[in-house]
Amino acid sequence: MEKEILERFNNELKRVKTLQELNILRVKYLGKKGIVKELMDKIKEVPKEKRKEYGISINRIKGEIEVRIKDLEKTLREKELEKKLEKERVDITLPGYPVEVGKKHIITQTLEEIEDVFLKMGFSIYEGPEIESDYYNFEALNIPKYHPARDMWDTLFLSGGLLLRTHTSPVQIRTMEKIKPPLRIISPGKCYRRDPFDATHSPMFHQIEGLMIDEKTSMTDLMGILDLFAKKIFGEDTRTKFYLSYFPFVEPGIEMAVSCIFCGGKGCPVCKYTGWIEILGAGMVHPKVLKNVGYDPEKWQGFAFGMGVERIAMLKYGIKDIRFFFENDRRFLKQF
Ligand code: FA5
Repeated sequence: MEKEILERFNNELKRVKTLQELNILRVKYLGKKGIVKELMDKIKEVPKEKRKEYGISINRIKGEIEVRIKDLEKTLREKELEKKLEKERVDITLPGYPVEVGKKHIITQTLEEIEDVFLKMGFSIYEGPEIESDYYNFEALNIPKYHPARDMWDTLFLSGGLLLRTHTSPVQIRTMEKIKPPLRIISPGKCYRRDPFDATHSPMFHQIEGLMIDEKTSMTDLMGILDLFAKKIFGEDTRTKFYLSYFPFVEPGIEMAVSCIFCGGKGCPVCKYTGWIEILGAGMVHPKVLKNVGYDPEKWQGFAFGMGVERIAMLKYGIKDIRFFFENDRRFLKQF
């Protein structure tokens, strides 16, 4: 009997290829209702004098089966591990995935380029909050309540008399309140307006403000600095033109146009055949503004200017629609 059972077991064992199959065989022979258990139960039917021998024989069968199963289990486990390792093997000769290096957004690049020009002229950077009070955004800049100029700078109003600043000009006031003249500062940052989101307007955009206060700062200093700035940003051949304009916080107020970057001033659709493109507002700081911050207008004078960074980038790189900057389409961003 012993030989027969072991022979049968060995034959079945030979056919086992996987751990799963081995487990089925283990249950078949060594399980609670398995063949070995069955044989053990039959011991009652064996005549008393043969029981001992029968018992020893069953234990041998059991022992043999256990050892063989264990051996095969070890072999199968090793084989499976080998297979798994083979499958997961890293082929170091395969080309890797390209790692794309990120870079600064074109607006940040333009901002930094503009900052650089002014830092080299001795200006320092001062920043202010994007959530402003009515006082700093309007009142202190000589734009009292119900002043018609407020229409140009409609914005989102928050509770508690706060609003999203419409320009970087409030930083002029905040800085002058903090530091004593003479001073030369630029203030980059985000601004907000209740403007449509179209090809040339965005409800959120960037500006850079400039402010210089000294005892003998004149309009010609302002024009010279802005002309130099235009040449550094758009190229040495760029020409500039100044004409009168109006901003309540400067007197006189001016705007600067640069010779069209696209046609060199000959006239094209971008400059509407004028040869010129307006890029910023500026002027001599209004005496009322100086008084509001406690500066003596008899002693101190200076100029301020403000420009839109998106518009500068659009001109410099020939971008036709401001919305490209904010869509985060990598095909657009990768070009710069
Ligand atoms: C001002 O905001 C003044 N604070 C500028 C200034 C400063 C004048 C100091 C005098 C002295 P203005 O509203 O024109 O001015 O805006 C300046 C620039 O911001 C514009 O020329 C334009 O380039 C940009 N800008 C204004 N509104 C938007 C908008 N909705 N989207 C994109 N750019 C805008």
